[in-house]
Amino acid sequence: MKKILIVGTGSIGERHVRCFLATGRAEVSICEPNSELCSKITKEYPVVNSFSDLHLALEKRWDAALVATPAHTHIPISLEIANRGVHLFIEKPLSTTMDGIDVLMDRVNEKSLIAAVAYVWRAHPGIEWLKSVVLDGRFGDLKQQTITSGQHFPFYRPAYREIYYTDREKGGGAIQDCLTHPLNFAEYLAGPITKIVADSDHQVLDGVTVEDTVHVLARHGETMGCYSVNQYQAPNETTVTLVFERGTARFEVHENRCGWMTEPGGTWNDVPLPEMDRDEWFTRQANLFLDVLERKSEPLCTLEEALGTLIATLKIL
Ligand SMILES: NC(=O)c1ccc[n+]([C@@H]2O[C@H](COP(=O)([O-])OP(=O)(O)OC[C@H]3O[C@@H](n4cnc5c(N)ncnc54)[C@H](O)[C@@H]3O)[C@@H](O)[C@H]2O)c1
Repeated sequence: MKKILIVGTGSIGERHVRCFLATGRAEVSICEPNSELCSKITKEYPVVNSFSDLHLALEKRWDAALVATPAHTHIPISLEIANRGVHLFIEKPLSTTMDGIDVLMDRVNEKSLIAAVAYVWRAHPGIEWLKSVVLDGRFGDLKQQTITSGQHFPFYRPAYREIYYTDREKGGGAIQDCLTHPLNFAEYLAGPITKIVADSDHQVLDGVTVEDTVHVLARHGETMGCYSVNQYQAPNETTVTLVFERGTARFEVHENRCGWMTEPGGTWNDVPLPEMDRDEWFTRQANLFLDVLERKSEPLCTLEEALGTLIATLKIL
């Protein structure tokens, strides 16, 4: 059993507590300064220890710590953890600025630590399948990639006006909070972004001024990308389409369906995907991270890759 410390048990931290426990491979402890929230989590889940302060938590021995605090705190908290020689799993986005990232990377290297960033889409079987199509080259080179995504943020995150989301400095707004996901897996599939241009605005969401709509044109070397998100449409839909020289591959997230087509005007060839609810998806991510801790595999998203996404995001901002 690996000893995992979850730092920050708000919305996503609580899910990580539940999903690391669901692996059956981890003992989970938490660090959460909000005492009400801390006692709620300790009542609801069989956590081993709970701390209100990271310094106290880091006096114990951990196999890894998962940083699930607002984005502007990721780097200082991760640095404190790395200084203690503890492996890291950091929520997306890596940060909101470049400050301290070089120091964190140096520390991770000096201490030979594992440091992964929890861009959960890389742990989705649909993205995994698209990646396999890119890697095996069956349709030739990837020429065009489009990602269209939208969902009703107030429906899925009713507290959005009370959290970091309201403030760009804390990682708020659609670019840092939402678009960061497709940007990250776009780079996973097509390679690093080499050029980018974007348009964004606040169009609809009540009670905030940050942007809720973004359009991006990107270049990944020879691959042309086009990415759009909004956070207020009724359908919760995301479609990823990869057009290669000799074939097209598509992942429709909302239908949990992958497919490919090579005949002009033909029909889709479906690729079966496992049925997975959100917790199963995060449990899969947790299992893959535990595999990395057991040195069975490499991180799905490294610090360097998450830094690439941060740089693209900062260019847009
Ligand atoms: N992968 C995903 O799908 C996904 C979904 C939601 C959020 N996130 C990311 O996870 C992070 C947290 O988001 P959230 O929605 O859970 O936020 P949240 O505001 O619900 O929770 C953050 C928690 O961190 C705690 N915290 C703040 N400073 C702390 C510190 N120094 N030490 C310990 N705990 C501290 C807060 O008390 C709070 O409970 C953000 O980076 C966000 O972008 C990822």
